[in-house]
Amino acid sequence: MSTTVRPASPDDVPEIADLAARTFPLACPPELAPDVVRAFVAEHLTPEAFRGYLAADGHEVLCARDADGTAVAYALLVDGTAMDPGCASQIEYRPTVGVSKFYVDPAHHGSGAATALLDDVVQRAVTRGAHSLWLATNVANERARRFYTRHGFLERGGRTFVVGGVPNTDVVYERPFVPAAGQCS
Ligand SMILES: CC(C)(COP(=O)(O)OP(=O)(O)OC[C@H]1O[C@@H](n2cnc3c(N)ncnc32)[C@H](O)[C@@H]1OP(=O)(O)O)[C@@H](O)C(=O)NCCC(=O)NCCS
Repeated sequence: MSTTVRPASPDDVPEIADLAARTFPLACPPELAPDVVRAFVAEHLTPEAFRGYLAADGHEVLCARDADGTAVAYALLVDGTAMDPGCASQIEYRPTVGVSKFYVDPAHHGSGAATALLDDVVQRAVTRGAHSLWLATNVANERARRFYTRHGFLERGGRTFVVGGVPNTDVVYERPFVPAAGQCS
């Protein structure tokens, strides 16, 4: 199925916020209480929150649509390590771009939409001179971890990500765009 990725505009915000509210729970570990998940959504994934991301320096929201024009995935990119400065020491290649959010509608999991969105993210990052992408995902999010590993992300370490006051263990990944030192190209 064909997927088109574009930078989000204010017109996309209601659909993206709806998608974000539906997909965020899929990335959470099962032990995280529903009210804690709801509180995170209410604080960080509302239309107002996305309008803030659209306006924020160094932030970019991407929206992927299927052939019918339905929003099926979105990503939030944040330049450098600003999305979690505590992870900066784990990132080996600079400049880097952080993938703060990367979510696909469950009806489109396994469809190639995630790969289309990630290919676009990589292209944008390379075009703006980045030498890597980095992100963090919950240690129990096996599906995301397999997806990122298949797409060249390397484990760099971990972080504690607090959702509604509850600490969660994330794995930190980096996808370099340059050959490792000593490696022939
Ligand atoms: C993570 C995500 C973007 C990946 O997109 P996708 O279309 O599901 O990815 P794919 O189907 O191409 O790849 C998923 C891999 O996990 C495997 N997988 C599927 N279900 C799995 C499960 N329950 N446990 C372990 N692996 C699983 C698939 O077989 C595939 O493995 P492969 O690469 O070896 O073939 C998407 O699943 C998603 O949006 N998930 C919910 C939100 C989320 O977790 N976002 C990431 C937050 S950082």
